[in-house]
Amino acid sequence: MTGLTLKEIRKSYGSVDVLHGIDLEIKQGEFIVFVGPSGCGKSTLLRMIAGLENITGGEMYIDGQLVNDVPPSKRGIAMVFQSYALYPHMTVFDNMAFGMKIAGESKQEIDRRVRAAAESLQLTNYLDRLPKALSGGQRQRVAIGRAICRDPKVFLFDEPLSNLDAALRVATRIEIARLNEQMADTTMIYVTHDQVEAMTLADRIVVLSAGHIEQVGAPLELYERPANLFVAKFIGSPAMNIIPSTISEAGATTTITLKGGRSVTLDIPTAASEKGKTASFGVRPEDLQIANGDDYIFEGEVSIVEALGEVTLLYIEGLMPGEPIIVKLPGITDIKKGQKMRFAADRSKLHLFDAEGHTYRR
Ligand SMILES: Nc1ncnc2c1ncn2[C@@H]1O[C@H](COP(=O)(O)OP(=O)(O)OP(=O)(O)O)[C@@H](O)[C@H]1O
Ligand SMILES: [Mg+2]
Repeated sequence: MTGLTLKEIRKSYGSVDVLHGIDLEIKQGEFIVFVGPSGCGKSTLLRMIAGLENITGGEMYIDGQLVNDVPPSKRGIAMVFQSYALYPHMTVFDNMAFGMKIAGESKQEIDRRVRAAAESLQLTNYLDRLPKALSGGQRQRVAIGRAICRDPKVFLFDEPLSNLDAALRVATRIEIARLNEQMADTTMIYVTHDQVEAMTLADRIVVLSAGHIEQVGAPLELYERPANLFVAKFIGSPAMNIIPSTISEAGATTTITLKGGRSVTLDIPTAASEKGKTASFGVRPEDLQIANGDDYIFEGEVSIVEALGEVTLLYIEGLMPGEPIIVKLPGITDIKKGQKMRFAADRSKLHLFDAEGHTYRR
């Protein structure tokens, strides 16, 4: 069982605390994705797991073994970085074989593993080429192949696709998903800024902010039931619309008064003591629809129309000056800038957060 256990993991650089006590249990074979704003500590945490950064405090276990003082080469971990550092004078085959040669593996075993990795990454036809004769996506696949050849128990990726263009990203993402299926027992931890990568690859996503964990959960769990305002705004694109409000009626259902005056009733229970408190109302752009009649959440004027083909984004001004509400409608519309419109949403799709940003649970 090659699981990972992080207990109260801390990291400081001098007097600067970067990670403030990370607790995380990762099961063997899981695909875990770390997301969070730039500088929140994702790479640092990954590098600590790899053994490339020492651990300031807490305990890290791989396979039940305390590894705080175990060097990188003894952890059974392979890491793929954002920029693929291939040896330019070596063929694809030799790049992938290099680590095994150093480790003294037999020629037969090296050949077997390189060919198997090349096969799974669709690199078989490129084994004799030099890196300069490969596309960016192919080079990154060689870097991944080199890591596979080390037969790691744990596979770490730090934004491996961020240097690739959009089409290559998609193709390589699918390659990684396939790899994850083939290497079902290998634990994978993957850092990305890309929502689609996080949502499609992860068994569970870990949302980090400023050196601590905000929430851990399956992708759709985070999307549908964010624990707090931070996660609600971070998962989903464009981000959830947040409107300041006051709780006017608490109980089995909750009625709030939005900034701007309108009342909305939500199927979310709140304690009587919440009445009168400030709260944040949340609704995702894709959960808003054009209202018919008087049953609407807000109204305003269309300030921008972004037609993306598959969807249209509308920026609606009116509720909060300078902070438009974003509406995502399916397909192409004939809505024009300047139009006045009203929008509604299904009650089950509405979110409410308290003054500290915690979610009021359904
Ligand atoms: N060697 C170092 N010395 C001092 N501070 C560091 C060092 N390495 C990283 N940091 C700080 O630690 C914090 C976390 O950095 P880290 O690289 O882990 O962020 P990240 O979440 O990976 O960000 P990004 O998404 O931009 O890659 C940052 O504030 C960074 O400035
Ligand atoms: Mg980073």
